[in-house]
Amino acid sequence: MANHCGAMATTTAGVNQVTRSEGGDVVRYRLEAGEVDWQLAPGRSVRGYGFNGQVPGPVIEAKQGVPLEIEFTNRLPEPTVIHWHGLRLPAAMDGTESVQRLVQPGETFTYRFTPPDAGTFWYHSHANETEQVEKGLYGALIVRAAEELALDGEQLLVFDDLRTDKSGRIAKFGGLMDRHNGREGNVRLINGTSEPELTIAAGQTERWRVVNASSARYVRLALGGRTFQIIGTDGGFIEAPIAATEVLLPPGDRVELAVGPFENEGEVLRIEDLPYYRMAGKKGVERFGTIRVTSRQPSTARVPSRLRELAPLAADDAPVTRTVTLGFKMSLRRGFDFVVNHERHHHDQPVRVGELQVWDVVNETQMDHPFHLHGFFFEVISVDGRKPAFRSIEDVVNVGPKSTVRIAWYPDDRPGMWMYHCHILEHHASGMMAHFEVVR
Ligand code: C2O
Ligand code: CU
Repeated sequence: MANHCGAMATTTAGVNQVTRSEGGDVVRYRLEAGEVDWQLAPGRSVRGYGFNGQVPGPVIEAKQGVPLEIEFTNRLPEPTVIHWHGLRLPAAMDGTESVQRLVQPGETFTYRFTPPDAGTFWYHSHANETEQVEKGLYGALIVRAAEELALDGEQLLVFDDLRTDKSGRIAKFGGLMDRHNGREGNVRLINGTSEPELTIAAGQTERWRVVNASSARYVRLALGGRTFQIIGTDGGFIEAPIAATEVLLPPGDRVELAVGPFENEGEVLRIEDLPYYRMAGKKGVERFGTIRVTSRQPSTARVPSRLRELAPLAADDAPVTRTVTLGFKMSLRRGFDFVVNHERHHHDQPVRVGELQVWDVVNETQMDHPFHLHGFFFEVISVDGRKPAFRSIEDVVNVGPKSTVRIAWYPDDRPGMWMYHCHILEHHASGMMAHFEVVR
């Protein structure tokens, strides 16, 4: 889909191509999970897991308000399940162990839902995640509005990092240290390729959709110090473009940018991940790839000064309905646990359809945790009592050490079992998650 994408994932011989037919106004895909030779760079591959023989899996192109049907077959040697991250779908389609039986090797399960929101989403394994997502079981899902903001071009950049060992294979999980810090990798990938070169024509402005699919890495994205515009977040457009030279994406997060114009043909800019101190992980500036500015092309791109109107979900002084604490506890059996409200895999109180939720998410630990709510968007009301710089719709928000993020969200009529968790996959696995029911 990317007009200038120098970084399409290289695939092994296509097991099952994506089949897509739009007869009867249904967008259909077929996905098959299986083992793949994941080519990180020419001549360099690892044995991983992919969808339809590739990492990331195929980009799913859905349409806002049009039913989407994904027939999924598991050809892995272990059970799995696919979660549709950020989509407001029925509980039964959320793709977690609490709403469906895991899809066993050889089995097929068909996901059916109608994406109600345009934006940049992703899908990933939600079983044995710390292994399956690390090995490559993820892909992007774009929901297009009937009328899309088209700039001069569009690119999708799915960030990930992978840890390889001395022999070049995917490293074994690093035990307690990785459980604590989350697994960060030495190989930095965009769209499954190690440090690719993307291109953009001089004079043009593109729409970039960015996903952070890393297990634990915070991507503090910069484009060689150049200014770009933030135009959207997890739940689509923000109200007005924000000029920035960097943007922070915790694991699971998405952002949409307007990038360019760059004037100098032949110039090469670095796609960088700036230092982010989270008591763990990378310390210096690291390179994810480069952008080469190619020969000048005419531009028709116009980034509107107003992108959307977002009515506030809750009054600034709306009463808090729930406090969620993210904590850390020593454990005799496991060394330590990451917990919610002092327990692993917490069972939280139900919420009722139609009742506004105002939650204080309190981080009692010394580390950052990216809080993710399944199936519903929220608005950040305040961070440590202060209003965020701009209003946005999110399903992931970073909660800094010893910090409190107040969010508001509205349970519309989709009863069933839902969950929230830290999107550092190792923290999620070690217990920093909760189930709760939406009831009528
Ligand atoms: Cu992308 Cu349960 O998460
Ligand atoms: Cu965490």
